[in-house]
Amino acid sequence: MAATESPEDAYTAEPFVPAGADLGALRRAAEGCRGCPLHRDATQTVFGTGRPGARLMLVGEQPGDQEDRQGRPFVGPAGKLLDRALADAGLDPADAYVTNAVKHFKFTRAGPRKRRIHKAPTLREAAACGPWLAAELALVGPELIVILGATAGKALLGSSFRVTQVRGTVLEEEIHGRPERLVPTVHPSAVLRADDREQAYRGLVADLEVAVRALG
Ligand code: URA
Ligand code: SF4
Repeated sequence: MAATESPEDAYTAEPFVPAGADLGALRRAAEGCRGCPLHRDATQTVFGTGRPGARLMLVGEQPGDQEDRQGRPFVGPAGKLLDRALADAGLDPADAYVTNAVKHFKFTRAGPRKRRIHKAPTLREAAACGPWLAAELALVGPELIVILGATAGKALLGSSFRVTQVRGTVLEEEIHGRPERLVPTVHPSAVLRADDREQAYRGLVADLEVAVRALG
């Protein structure tokens, strides 16, 4: 294990997060994060993107295969669906800041061609990556946060978060000492996996419409 790597009982990005950095400096510092083991097999850190002064911040789970290759969040199939849902809800995706709870792709290999299959991050990995999300939140200062699925919800609101109980509602919670407004919804990948995709998609759009109204 490299000297800069956290011991197993203390996975955290904390020592890699520079104090007083702007978003650009934060993104560059995140390229070298060794706060948990996920950096080892992934291609690169996938940091948040979007306008620094965005009114809306979207938080997903972790980069997928395409995001890992391209270095940008939500550029694969889930991202395409998310962009369509945002547009249908009346939001311009270019106006939002988009990021993930976990910044490295976690996967297993399966099948004859050893395809990389997404594997959900553990709570511990999400907690380790939390300092990056906290720093993004402090710098972007959004008026509203859209939580995409359980991993993002647990990362921001704690392990008792249940997306089915609170989706499509406006929550007001204190996060890292700041009052935040949040609208949780399902993860766009869950829509892609749903038996009734049309219905699941309409549910996602309806939740995003709640966010649009809350933004005013
Ligand atoms: N799923 C996510 O949660 N984030 C991405 O960036 C892509 C897929
Ligand atoms: Fe650091 Fe997060 Fe990557 Fe772990 S997943 S190495 S904490 S950036």
